[in-house]
Amino acid sequence: MTDERTSELLTLALEAAHRAGALLRDGRPDDLAVARTKSSPIDVVTEMDIAAEKLITGYLEDHRPDDGFLGEEGASRDGTSGVRWVIDPLDGTVNYLYGLPTWAVSIAAEIDGETVVGVVEAPMRGETFHAVRGGGARLGDRPLRCRPAPPLDQALVSTGFNYVHTVRTHQADVAQRLIPRLRDIRRSGSAAIDLSDVAAGRLDGYYERGLSPWDLAAGDLIAREAGALTGGRPGEPPSGDLTVAASPGVFEPLQALLEELGAWHD
Ligand code: IPD
Ligand code: CA
Ligand code: CA
Repeated sequence: MTDERTSELLTLALEAAHRAGALLRDGRPDDLAVARTKSSPIDVVTEMDIAAEKLITGYLEDHRPDDGFLGEEGASRDGTSGVRWVIDPLDGTVNYLYGLPTWAVSIAAEIDGETVVGVVEAPMRGETFHAVRGGGARLGDRPLRCRPAPPLDQALVSTGFNYVHTVRTHQADVAQRLIPRLRDIRRSGSAAIDLSDVAAGRLDGYYERGLSPWDLAAGDLIAREAGALTGGRPGEPPSGDLTVAASPGVFEPLQALLEELGAWHD
């Protein structure tokens, strides 16, 4: 279902993501440096992460001054309209820093706490993924469907590793025990792109521990609207404890196996 309000939010999210994507693609300095670090010395922020978030929040504020924001680089505001924007201005910063192409702008709109619009713009791929709750997911104009499920031992599953040393050590241990039970694993460096690739049928599944709301808000809706199942630990929604997204038929055994392997704790 796409009503007037969600269609306005989608139009704004697409335009903001497009502008930020162009700024990041065309404005990347050759001598791009780390501006500061966050949770650990390898959790980096560049001047371009900050500039992209400013562009997005400035654009949205101009059009919808009463909305709230949650942005990775500090944008945080309670609005009065019931709409909140959840923004990762540059998902895949380490790839971007090194000049690797897998990075994206991720923008979601929530109404009363529920995600209704998601946009993931991947400029170096020339791809824009988007979804509206109840209205399906698209790559450009093309409707997206996740992949028919293979048996778990033939599933291609992506994951990511947190910036905090103790968490990534535990994640490496889980991945080591998971690899023999799957076709293979991938690590793209952008959670938003991983979730969008599940939607596009380019991955059978994806899981990660330690995500923040801005990493997953848009991609989770895009994956679900393409027919994928998403969740956290069994019975839970996706969260920082664990995020799992996969085609139905892969999701259930993958989630059960991650529970068995203790994928969520330290
Ligand atoms: C990171 C990416 C990465 C994932 C990390 C995220 P950032 O986001 O999505 O793939 O493994 O957990 O923090 O820092 O590039 O915005
Ligand atoms: Ca991110
Ligand atoms: Ca980011």
